[in-house]
Amino acid sequence: MSPELQLDSHGNLRHLLTLEGLSSDLLSRILDTAEDLEKALRGPEKNIPLLRGRTIVNLFFEPSTRTRTTFELAAKRLSADVLNLQIAASSTSKGETLFDTLKTLEAMQADMFVVRHDASGAAHFFAEHAAPGVAILNAGDGRHAHPTQGLLDLFTIRRYKQEFTNLRVAIVGDVLHSRVARSDIHGLRTLGAREIRVVAPPTLVPAGIEQMGVRVCHRIEEGLEGADVVILLRLQKERMLGAFLPSMGEFHRDFGLTRKRLETLRKDAIIMHPGPINRGVEIEGDVAYGPQSLILQQVSHGIAVRMAVMAMILGHNASPTAPTRTRRRLGVLR
Ligand code: NCD
Repeated sequence: MSPELQLDSHGNLRHLLTLEGLSSDLLSRILDTAEDLEKALRGPEKNIPLLRGRTIVNLFFEPSTRTRTTFELAAKRLSADVLNLQIAASSTSKGETLFDTLKTLEAMQADMFVVRHDASGAAHFFAEHAAPGVAILNAGDGRHAHPTQGLLDLFTIRRYKQEFTNLRVAIVGDVLHSRVARSDIHGLRTLGAREIRVVAPPTLVPAGIEQMGVRVCHRIEEGLEGADVVILLRLQKERMLGAFLPSMGEFHRDFGLTRKRLETLRKDAIIMHPGPINRGVEIEGDVAYGPQSLILQQVSHGIAVRMAVMAMILGHNASPTAPTRTRRRLGVLR
């Protein structure tokens, strides 16, 4: 899959399919824009009319709570028109191909599609076949990538830890099936994190992941030692075709973040999880809502980060009533 597909000839975002290949400068610009938009939202006006008159279609072929609703809210906060396609009630369930669904919706003058699909590469397929000027945002494709989750994780880490270069980050759990882990690793590497560890039993670590520049730990004690950031991942039972684990209970015993293990963490370590959490499996309920946990902040940050990406891709003809600093950052005012 070619990461170049997502940039135009000036290096600006055309689609967002993966964090792989995006420069640290561009990642930082997205995070800075999200900061600006978040600040603007704290003002008296909840809506920023950057995307008035634009149409954004949410196309979710897989279940979603946080990602779909925060994409919808982000688009509405930017004053775009939003369409949520109910896939189960759509013609896809009658056998219409992805290509034909895309062309049908394009004919309704959509400007952007937000796509989630269980096949790795689905968002690339859409981007390759979209009409010129129609943008694709990947909201998770199979095990491959979940770039806006990666960005909101980076946003959250930067807010609480400022500098990436000093950080030891532990990514714990079902790395094998996790598109979030892959996007986090690409982003963290590009922004210069000091050390990235993946912490999981051998059956849940993809072969060759060391080539992404991470250290693999099969013992949680080793993985958590001295970590500044702990990112937990859900056991993705729906993607497990074979027997990856003896039992959930055993996974919890060996890899779950319990209160006891929490005590061994640095006092200033932050705990994250993309959600949905499996309480009592990868994390104990008390820990999920404890003082070191940023799980709910991640959800809130998802709105500003998704707004930033949508605005940077579609905001060229933005309304002049949008905040000047935001418009300048987006390249709308030069
Ligand atoms: C993740 C996903 O769908 O990839 N969740 C999310 O987007 N918030 C992770 C998961 O489902 O476990």
